[in-house]
Amino acid sequence: MEITAAIVKEKGGDFELVKMNLDEPKNDEVLIKIIATGTCHTDMAARDLLTGPLSFPMVLGHEGAGIVEKVGENVSNIKKGDHVVLTFGFCGGCSNCQTGIPAYCENFGALNFGGARLDGSHSHHIHGEVVQDNFFSQSSFATYALAHKNNVIKVRKDAPIEYLGPLGCGIQTGSGAVLNSLDVKAGQSIVISGGGAVGLAGVLAAKAISAGKIVVVDINEERLKFAKELGATHIINSIKENVAEKLKEIEPKGFDCGLDTTGISPVILDSINALRSHGKMGILGVAKKPLDIEMNSFVATGKQLIGIVEGDSVPNEFIPRLVNMYMNGQFPFDKLIKTYKFEDINQAIEDSEKGITIKPVILIGEYKG
Ligand SMILES: NC(=O)c1ccc[n+]([C@@H]2O[C@H](COP(=O)([O-])OP(=O)(O)OC[C@H]3O[C@@H](n4cnc5c(N)ncnc54)[C@H](O)[C@@H]3O)[C@@H](O)[C@H]2O)c1
Ligand SMILES: [Zn+2]
Ligand SMILES: [Zn+2]
Repeated sequence: MEITAAIVKEKGGDFELVKMNLDEPKNDEVLIKIIATGTCHTDMAARDLLTGPLSFPMVLGHEGAGIVEKVGENVSNIKKGDHVVLTFGFCGGCSNCQTGIPAYCENFGALNFGGARLDGSHSHHIHGEVVQDNFFSQSSFATYALAHKNNVIKVRKDAPIEYLGPLGCGIQTGSGAVLNSLDVKAGQSIVISGGGAVGLAGVLAAKAISAGKIVVVDINEERLKFAKELGATHIINSIKENVAEKLKEIEPKGFDCGLDTTGISPVILDSINALRSHGKMGILGVAKKPLDIEMNSFVATGKQLIGIVEGDSVPNEFIPRLVNMYMNGQFPFDKLIKTYKFEDINQAIEDSEKGITIKPVILIGEYKG
């Protein structure tokens, strides 16, 4: 079928809306009419060749939400008309998938960054020319997308489908880091560095489970004020204040947990140093330099450092749970979103990179609920 997709043709290039051909779904695949797709920094990382696919043209987009149009022969859990959120690809068969940690699927790289299906085939073509696709098993900056049945998550129909896409990556990552990876309990304290889409989703999750002190560290005054509106009990502007001293003052006995979304070594170390003995530190940002830990004090205090992919989510359970929390008013992640028209996708990306918009969502298809 003919679709319109946003393609990137060169490293760091703009997105361009182009008509192209999309194949019919294979046996395990689902065809989705995309209603809206969030943008995430990983789209920009792929555009800049920091991660795969490693050639052009490519169709990105990995926070898609829409309505099922058609399913392949082997798809029984999803049917035409279902409302769905598209999440990361996982194989379902490897030992990590089988033990309930699909974010660490042994085929994660190939299924999300390979630029093609696992068997090397492509579903998008421009006049016969191959397009790098299957980004996060979806390539959802497009009017229609093909996904594997594993990463198509059915959601309730009374939820606003146009806002739900970011639950497939950024929002799921921040909230899952707090609820799953760090397993923060009611009353426990947490310091979150980086109050962007991921960090603020962490704040919302911490508030939802009645965490104790919730501290956000950032360099952007507006974001810090916003973090406070969302539920942070304390904010620290690291340009103006001494973070180490301030954290000590806020929680003299040390924090139960830390979550870093900046990927910056000195920022992470401030939080690690502020943990209590045996406290847990989660890291998930894309880093440009190594983490420089003073090992002896780290070892002596039994602190735990945890790498996190996609908030350790089991998407079939976690995404519907987040939708329920949202519908109950416990997880108002829509406050982070600003919507853009499909033709304004470059503006959305620019606003995200400049820190003007926290979570852009691109409205792609019509839906009358
Ligand atoms: N591991 C995963 O599964 C996963 C999933 C999604 C996103 N990510 C990554 O998570 C990271 C965060 O994503 P995001 O969408 O929230 O990004 P973002 O740009 O919206 O947020 C980052 C925040 O960090 C702040 N910041 C920058 N330098 C700082 C400093 N020195 N001290 C304190 N704060 C500082 C910025 O002002 C911004 O508010 C990105 O690297 C993204 O690629 C990882
Ligand atoms: Zn992402
Ligand atoms: Zn797997």
